[in-house]
Amino acid sequence: MNILITGSNGQLGNEMRVLSKQHPKHMYWFTDVVELEDTYVLDITDAKAVGLFVASKGIDLIVNCAAYTNVDKAEEDEVTAQKINADALGVLGSQGVKVIHVSTDYVFSGEEHLPCRETDPAAPRTAYGRTKYEGEKLLLAECPDAVILRTAWLYSTYGNNFVKTMIRLGKEKEQLGVVFDQIGTPTYAADLAQAIFTVIETKMWHPGIYHFTNEGVCSWYDFTLAIHELAGITSCKVHPILSEEYTYKTPRPHYSVLDKSKFKKTFDVEIPHWMDGLRRCVEELKIKN
Ligand SMILES: NC(=O)c1ccc[n+]([C@@H]2O[C@H](COP(=O)([O-])OP(=O)(O)OC[C@H]3O[C@@H](n4cnc5c(N)ncnc54)[C@H](OP(=O)(O)O)[C@@H]3O)[C@@H](O)[C@H]2O)c1
Repeated sequence: MNILITGSNGQLGNEMRVLSKQHPKHMYWFTDVVELEDTYVLDITDAKAVGLFVASKGIDLIVNCAAYTNVDKAEEDEVTAQKINADALGVLGSQGVKVIHVSTDYVFSGEEHLPCRETDPAAPRTAYGRTKYEGEKLLLAECPDAVILRTAWLYSTYGNNFVKTMIRLGKEKEQLGVVFDQIGTPTYAADLAQAIFTVIETKMWHPGIYHFTNEGVCSWYDFTLAIHELAGITSCKVHPILSEEYTYKTPRPHYSVLDKSKFKKTFDVEIPHWMDGLRRCVEELKIKN
């Protein structure tokens, strides 16, 4: 297949690039708004450019890793977030090819007390969540047999993320307060990329919305303790704090655990625990640094 990967300079896009080496039977077209080595320029909000690219390369499948992911900035500039997270999905969905798209736990209110299923009603509370949910709907309207994977708490050795920030702060500071009243599941982007390849390689195409994170649950506080332990940081004392003690520009979900039963059953796979994903990521960071 000819596979177009959008947003390939981001966390997930880079992990797709790494994993693609294990699937050499496909031809990959890595694209982003910024040109890097082995990356073509393609702005997913540019309908004409997307149409030309898909037609000229004979694309069979689009894997959309592009997004406006800054939750606080999206609140201030919902117009741009809407273009990238929502309107562009109508463009990608109307190309007459298969689409795998990545969405978010932010489509839910975050006030639940049980893991969210795909059938639970969406109730986004932020501009980011609203635009991502709108993108899901626009994509499915154009391309009803698309696959949408909702994920959460994504991190990788690429880009900026919570794991890298906590390693840096752990080395710089003697004390750190981290919230313990927000619960979710950290997800290694390499494991999400693996899930995308599972969807691609499974003989039958199974359209629909799925939830995919690593297994298990924790708070950001527990996550930080694990990061520091694996990174060998002992000089920083981490304190649990309440969300109200931290200044957030945008409300954060208190409970955003996703139920992955549908993905595991449909694709007959086991998913690694978040600690396992974190261990592999921290080891990889040690090799890179
Ligand atoms: N990060 C998380 O914690 C998290 C949680 C749940 C779901 N997700 C979802 O998971 C997916 C992957 O996230 P990620 O963390 O890998 O994102 P990321 O690191 O922010 O990567 C997104 C990439 O898309 C690019 N991009 C932005 N606008 C574009 C456009 N108009 N056309 C083409 N590319 C564009 C970005 O470029 P610039 O950086 O130059 O803008 C960036 O390289 C996204 O759909 C996101 O919504 C993420």
